[in-house]
Amino acid sequence: MENMIYAENLRKEFKKIIKEPGIKGSVKALFKPHKEIVTAVDDISFAVPKGEILGFIGPNGAGKSTVIKMLTGILMPTSGKCVINGQIPQKNRKDYVREIGVVFGQRTQLWWDLALRETYAVLKEIYEVPDDRYKKRMAFLNEVLELDSFITSPVRTLSLGQRMRADIAASLLHSPKVLFLDEPTIGLDVVVKENIRNAIRTINEEEGTTVILTTHDLSDIELLCERIVMIDKGNKVFDGGLSELKRSFGNIRTFTFDLMNPDDFTRLEYRTKYRLTDDDIAVKQDRSSVTVKFNTDKVSVEEIISYTLATVHVKDMQITDVEIEDIIKRLYRREVSV
Ligand SMILES: Nc1ncnc2c1ncn2[C@@H]1O[C@H](COP(=O)(O)OP(=O)(O)O)[C@@H](O)[C@H]1O
Ligand SMILES: [Mg+2]
Repeated sequence: MENMIYAENLRKEFKKIIKEPGIKGSVKALFKPHKEIVTAVDDISFAVPKGEILGFIGPNGAGKSTVIKMLTGILMPTSGKCVINGQIPQKNRKDYVREIGVVFGQRTQLWWDLALRETYAVLKEIYEVPDDRYKKRMAFLNEVLELDSFITSPVRTLSLGQRMRADIAASLLHSPKVLFLDEPTIGLDVVVKENIRNAIRTINEEEGTTVILTTHDLSDIELLCERIVMIDKGNKVFDGGLSELKRSFGNIRTFTFDLMNPDDFTRLEYRTKYRLTDDDIAVKQDRSSVTVKFNTDKVSVEEIISYTLATVHVKDMQITDVEIEDIIKRLYRREVSV
C-alpha cells in the first residue's frame, strides 16, 4: 500500500535557558545564559499508509506534540526527515498546508471575536475553495459535526465541546488528504466525544483521509485505530495492531467473583498464599463482588480460580478482557491496579 506519511529518524532538541534562583540569577541568565539541551524527540521512524487512522500514544511529555509539529511543518527537525504526500513540510509550507488539516485540542486556531460562520468564510478565501464546493462542504461538516446551533456565535462564547467541533470543521474545510489531531477529545464529555469520533470515522471512510490521532482516551484508540505507534521519552516503543499490543503486554487478567457471603472477602489472602507483591496483584471489594487483577507471570489463572473456589462460596464469575489502559500503565510503571 502507498504510504502517505514517512517519518525517518526524526529528532528534535530544544535549548532551554536554566536560571539560577533569585534576582542575581535572573541578571546572570540575561548576560551569561546557561543553556541546557532537552531532547524532546530522540529517534522516531514510522510510516502511515494512505487512508489509515493511526493512534499515536504515549505518556505526558513523551514527545507526541513535538512529532506532530514537525510533521505539520511548524517545527524544524534537528535531524531526520519527514515526507507527507511526497512533500517535505518545512520546504514549501504554502502548498503543503493546503493538503493537511491540523487540530491542537489544547489551543484553538480560530479567531476569538469572529462569528464562526465568518471564520469559515475567511478560511474559504485563504484556501481558495470555490463557491459551490464551499456550500457543499459546509453542509456536510454541519451535518457530521452538528454546528448549526452555534454557527452564528463568536468563537469566544462557545463551550469547549462546541469549540473543538468548530476547530475540526475548520481543519477539514479545504478537504485535506491528511488530518493531524493532537488530543481532539481532551476534556470533553461523552456525548461530544462520540460526535467527534463519528466525524473522524466518517471523514476517513467517505474521503479516504489519512489521520494521525494523539489521545489519552483509550476508547478513542479502540474505536478508531487499527494501528498504534507508542512512544516514550522520544523513542518508539511499539508499532503494531491493537490486538498485538494486547498480546505483547497483556499478561494481566481480571476476574470478578460474586460471593454468596460478602463477609467471606477477608478470607481471600492471595498475597500471602502465593507470595505476591502489590505489583503482581490488586484486589478490590464492592459489596458482594470481588475483583482480582493479577499478573499471569507471577500467579496462574488456575491458581487464582482454584484457590478462590476452595476458600469462599462463589455464586458467579466473570472474566474481563485486558484493557489497553492497563497495558500502558504496566509498560510505564510496571504496576497492577484496580
Ligand atoms: N518549545 C519547547 N521548548 C523546550 N522544551 C520543550 C518545548 N516543547 C516541548 N518541550 C519538551 O519536550 C518534551 C516533549 O513534549 P511534548 O512533545 O509536548 O510531549 P507530549 O505531547 O507527548 O506530552 C517535554 O519534556 C517538553 O517539556
Ligand atoms: Mg502533547
